[in-house]
Amino acid sequence: MSARANANVALVKYWGKRDSRLNLPATGSISLTLGGLAVEADVAFGPSSGPDDVVIDGASPTSDEQARVTAFLDLVRGETGCTGGATVRTRSTVPRGAGLASSAAAFAALALAASRAAGARLAPPALSALARRGSGSAARSIFGGFVEWARGDAMDGSDSVARPLAPADAWDVRVVVAIVERAPKAVPSRAGMARAVRSPFYPAWLETTPRDLDAARAAIAARDLEALGEVAEHSALKMHAIGLGARPPLLYWRGATVECLHRAWALRAAGTPAWVTIDAGPQVKVLTSPAAAPAVATALAAVPGVERVLECRPGGGAEVLACPS
Ligand code: PMV
Repeated sequence: MSARANANVALVKYWGKRDSRLNLPATGSISLTLGGLAVEADVAFGPSSGPDDVVIDGASPTSDEQARVTAFLDLVRGETGCTGGATVRTRSTVPRGAGLASSAAAFAALALAASRAAGARLAPPALSALARRGSGSAARSIFGGFVEWARGDAMDGSDSVARPLAPADAWDVRVVVAIVERAPKAVPSRAGMARAVRSPFYPAWLETTPRDLDAARAAIAARDLEALGEVAEHSALKMHAIGLGARPPLLYWRGATVECLHRAWALRAAGTPAWVTIDAGPQVKVLTSPAAAPAVATALAAVPGVERVLECRPGGGAEVLACPS
């Protein structure tokens, strides 16, 4: 069974967990699924138990990757009663070495492919809850377009699932990604979040994020790019400010990250719609309009230290690619 899912960029960030085993977030988050940044996963369960045979982008996984995929497949086996060892092949169309995390796309594709391969047809909310267990942000990549992942209140996480706010074709916006550095991130998001929750600024994050979610939801409903951009940039900068206040400190930015931020602000001062968001790494993503995207891409490509620029459209949700006969 094969499935494909796209990456997503959070406009109101998920940063910090209320339960790390179940990947339950401390707050809700809102994202945009990005077209063209997909991971495809093929999964087949064998007749007998045994080690899972995993190949990621044509290569053997690291021991951490193998353990993470097997732990995820164990959840699928536990939920479906399927006991066989699995053969897993994943292919990423996220540009190689682009420094863009693809774990959201990977676990959304794996959730769909593995559950179907095990004989289960999960409804989208259950699929979102399953994907969440692999990587929190994967809960959102089950759906296309603008998506909200609820914090939920249930201890078992049953209500912490994503839901679509507006499909990919409902509002045409662009995200221009400036690749600043290709090296793997120094502090993975899991470790970054664990450090962030001990920052003295974290209580302010918890207190203010519900308002950001309200503002983003309203901006999406009204197709108001300025309002959405403003709250998205605010959420991202607030998330990174938490890290500066942590001990030890956490800063994902490089010099070129800061220069891109200033470039986007200069564009905006000159009347171009351009709002920045940054995830757990140095790359800069700029939310803009289709008309302004070429100028934004040109401006970011000219920033010293920017290696490459990508222009992304809204993308669709996870989909099955082939069914066995
Ligand atoms: O899904 P994770 O554990 O890789 O965490 C994602 C964290 C951010 O990308 C920084 C924010 C988000 O909401 O996607």
